[in-house]
Amino acid sequence: MLDIQGVCKAYGSGQARVEALANVDLSVGDGELLAILGSSGSGKTTLLNMMGGMDRPDSGRVLYEGRDIHAEGDRSMTRYRREVVGFVFQSFNLIGELTALENVRLTADKARPRSAEQALELVGLQDKCDSYPSQLSGGQQQRVSIARALAKRSRLLLCDEPTGALDYETGRQTLSILEGVARELGKTVVIVTHTQEVGRMADRTVWMRNGRITRTESNPSPLSARDISW
Ligand SMILES: Nc1ncnc2c1ncn2[C@@H]1O[C@H](COP(=O)(O)OP(=O)(O)OP(=O)(O)O)[C@@H](O)[C@H]1O
Ligand SMILES: [Mg+2]
Repeated sequence: MLDIQGVCKAYGSGQARVEALANVDLSVGDGELLAILGSSGSGKTTLLNMMGGMDRPDSGRVLYEGRDIHAEGDRSMTRYRREVVGFVFQSFNLIGELTALENVRLTADKARPRSAEQALELVGLQDKCDSYPSQLSGGQQQRVSIARALAKRSRLLLCDEPTGALDYETGRQTLSILEGVARELGKTVVIVTHTQEVGRMADRTVWMRNGRITRTESNPSPLSARDISW
């Protein structure tokens, strides 16, 4: 589905130059649940931004279904971002002045009536449609942000430390929802995390260090999110 080939990205120049990604190759399969681990500053968010068309590589290519997402300029990148990718952030990124339902409707597929309501049902928040983010717990806010990604029918969910701001139990529930998104809805889910145990529910784990993928491990029998602990 997604093919990252020889991607390099550097920030700054001279003494301040940082090689955030150094010749990264990575293929992500359709419906795969992929975990990305690595210490702070190792390039995980930069890689996720490349996958999501949020940033442009200095060199190398990002292919979606065999097509270079940058080749046709900003418009093809914007279309890719809008139609294919859903982002889930550590900080939820909801709009405080809008209700849960309105937040999800912002990105929802206009061609499908009720797609926002259905997405909130999928994450078990049908009762919270009219609540504002400030009236929801952290875990509920994260579920709204997952619903937002689902309502726009993204095939690819890119999650940057989705449990980073949540307590243990709520974090596990969020992982369970993401697992269902991959296993039951068949979406491709990439989870950047500092929790090594997340790898046990993933199909594959990649480790990053200094802008490089240093190790990849496939997991032939992933556990359910309910069965992992840390
Ligand atoms: N916009 C930017 N300008 C300058 N340097 C940047 C920028 N974005 C990232 N970097 C640098 O690139 C490197 C990789 O950053 P990145 O955010 O990808 O790391 P990360 O693995 O996501 O870390 P964390 O776990 O702390 O989120 C870091 O050294 C960072 O300082
Ligand atoms: Mg990061």
